Amino acid sequence: MAHVLSASAWIGIDVLVAVLAAVCVGSDDPVRRGLAGQAFGTFVWWPMAVSALICLVTGLVLGWGTRWGLVRFWWVTIKLVLNVVLCTLILVLLRPTMPEAYAYGVAVAAGSPVTMEANGLIMPPIVSLTALTVATVLSVYKPWGRIRQLEQEGARRRSR
Ligand code: HEM
Repeated sequence: MAHVLSASAWIGIDVLVAVLAAVCVGSDDPVRRGLAGQAFGTFVWWPMAVSALICLVTGLVLGWGTRWGLVRFWWVTIKLVLNVVLCTLILVLLRPTMPEAYAYGVAVAAGSPVTMEANGLIMPPIVSLTALTVATVLSVYKPWGRIRQLEQEGARRRSR
């Protein structure tokens, strides 16, 4: 339950971040661009980091506590890798862009003719939403079975 809630919260926050990033780089209205930049620079990374960490921890607990394990099924292991990579990206790539986005927002709102590299704002929610969609589809359909299925089948045949 906590796992699905945190995953849903993370996806919701990502959608909000995508909207803020799109307004910040794409709006014709400088006031909106400025406010979106300030909101992006103030609120984005920590709610994302918290929901991502809760999702990771509850996912680990679910994996350990059930027959799914952590490295027993492809779909769980791929989600584990995705979650760890996304947590790292939030801390290493997204967090450092926050002061720049905030400063950009303040300058735009004050009427300064400043520009900001759009990729730095747009790419994080696109990458994250794509990975989270993949993780959700994996969770629901649980494809590809066991990681050591072939080895186990071979061992079973040999023991007959
Ligand atoms: C990357 C972000 C993740 C998302 C968006 C996500 C999403 C979900 C969703 C929506 C479910 C419910 C599926 C259902 O009931 O049909 C679920 C279940 C589960 N997830 Fe995740 N998850 C993520 C990360 C992880 C991680 C890192 C692990 C473990 C290492 C994990 C392990 C599990 C397990 C074991 C279940 C229980 C499946 C079951 O009992 O049916 N998840 N996840």
